[in-house]
Parts: sequence; C-alpha cells; structure tokens
Amino acid sequence: MDISLSRECNRLNLVQVAKYLGESPETLLGHYDQLLSQTAFVARLNQQMARARDQLRFDKGIFGKAAVDSVDWFAFERILLYVLVRTLKPTRILETGVYYGGNTVFLLKGLEDNGSGSLISIDLPDSKIKSVRHPGVGETELYPSHIRPGFLVPDDLAKRWQLMEGSSLEEIPKLTGAFDFYVHDSEHSFDFLQRELEMTLPKLSHLATLLVDDIDWSNAFFAFCVANQFVPLLLTDNGKDGLRVRTGLVRRAHPANSNAAFVGQRDCSAAPAPA
Ligand SMILES: C[S@@+](CC[C@H](N)C(=O)[O-])C[C@H]1O[C@@H](n2cnc3c(N)ncnc32)[C@H](O)[C@@H]1O
Repeated sequence: MDISLSRECNRLNLVQVAKYLGESPETLLGHYDQLLSQTAFVARLNQQMARARDQLRFDKGIFGKAAVDSVDWFAFERILLYVLVRTLKPTRILETGVYYGGNTVFLLKGLEDNGSGSLISIDLPDSKIKSVRHPGVGETELYPSHIRPGFLVPDDLAKRWQLMEGSSLEEIPKLTGAFDFYVHDSEHSFDFLQRELEMTLPKLSHLATLLVDDIDWSNAFFAFCVANQFVPLLLTDNGKDGLRVRTGLVRRAHPANSNAAFVGQRDCSAAPAPA
C-alpha cells in the first residue's frame, strides 16, 4: 500500500478506535502525531535492522530495506499498539508471539513515553516448535536457531521487558498477578488460539483490553467473543500488502458487552418451532 494512503487510513482507523473506547479522537491522533515526530526512534530501529542484517544475516521482510523514513512502514497494528499504550496507560502488559519484536518494540516505546508499566512477552522460537502449525505460516515468519526472539528491540527500551522462552500454553498458567493489556500474535490455529484466549482471560483485570492479530486465520477470536458476549472492533492492517481485516480489539468493560440484543441472538428458547 502507498505509504501516504496508509497514513490516512491509519487516521480513519484511530478515529474508530477512539469511538469504540469512548475517548476523544484528538487524544489518539495526537499520540500518533507524536510518534511520527520522533525521528530518533526511527533512526534507532534502522540501526537495529542494519545490525540484524550484518551480524545475524537476517534480511527478511522490512529488514531487506536499507532504511525506513517513517514508523508507517511497520504497518498499522504497531502504531495502534503504541497509541493504545499511550492512551490506556496499562501497568502490566502480556504479549504472546515475538519473532523479530515488531509489536514488542512499539509496546515498549509506549511504556517508555508513559514513564511507567512493564511488558512480559512469551515466544516459542520457531526452531523449537514441535506441533503442527497453521498452514498460513509462511517462510518469512521463520527464523534460524542462532537468533533469539525480539532482536529489533534496542537495549535502552528493554529495561521494562521480560522475555519468557516457551510455549504460551505452558507459560501463561505460571503467571501471577493481573494484566491490563494483552496482545496475541503467536500460533493462530483455531484450537491453539481458543486455548490461549481461554487461559488468558482469568489473568486479565476487568478493565483490560485485548488485541488479537490475524483474526481472519480461523474463527477462534469470533467464537471467543460470542462465548463471552464481547463486542469487538475489527480493523484493517494498513501498510501491509494484500489489505485485510486482521486486528481484533476487545475492551472487557465495553458498555455494549452482554448487550441484550447481542445475547438474544443466542437465546433459542424464544425461536418458533420448526414447521
Ligand atoms: C507472527 S510471528 C510474531 C510476530 C511479532 N508479533 C512481530 O510483531 O514481529 C509468530 C511468533 O509466534 C511464535 N510461536 C509459535 N508458536 C508458539 C507457541 N506455542 N508459544 C509461543 N510462541 C509461539 C513463533 O516463534 C513466532 O515468533
């Protein structure tokens, strides 16, 4: 997608997010503008990508570019994560699925600019995955065993970060204390995502926000929303090739959740008997 069109689409999406969260659009757009103005951050990411190319011999996807001139090249979901962290000011964030750390670095940048909060990320490195993965997982998502997940994260942003290497389904049950923001981007197959969402929900505070990536890879996110009577917001990931609706957002305390009209769709008792 053309990057200037992408930026306009990002603004439209942020207005929708503001409406969903009951926040003013100016607040979210202001955080986006602030991120766009931070040229030192983009320079730092370019340095990390150059390091990955030279030292780790990793040049897939965006790492193949000599340099980027704007955060927009990292696509809308990363911008949304930064803006959400700045707006909602979570104290404890849980993330699954790190890979090179695109989402991670924007979450950490939000925490740094807030001056508070911490992030726990869980990733099972590709070389250690034994189970069958979703058929949509492509070659660009795999990384060799000499590389640790999160290699885009600069040292100065890592002080608020803890990385747990292991399967999210095994690591999440070990976590203690409540999280107020959760990001899923690990294995997207139906059974896996359903299990990860079910085991994460009790770890989240009642005011928590959930963001799920690649919701179009299976119906697990939608099944979760129906089962828990959550009304989600669905968003396009501008900036990626082949634009898709791929980001699902849920505010646990959204006033529309458990809405009678929505719940009524599942109440079969009132349905007329078949002829
Ligand atoms: C789509 S990539 C994540 C991309 C990342 N969020 C980013 O922004 O760069 C999926 C990641 O999930 C990890 N993964 C796959 N199965 C997993 C599991 N069972 N538990 C934790 N992480 C897993 C993979 O190793 C890979 O790093």
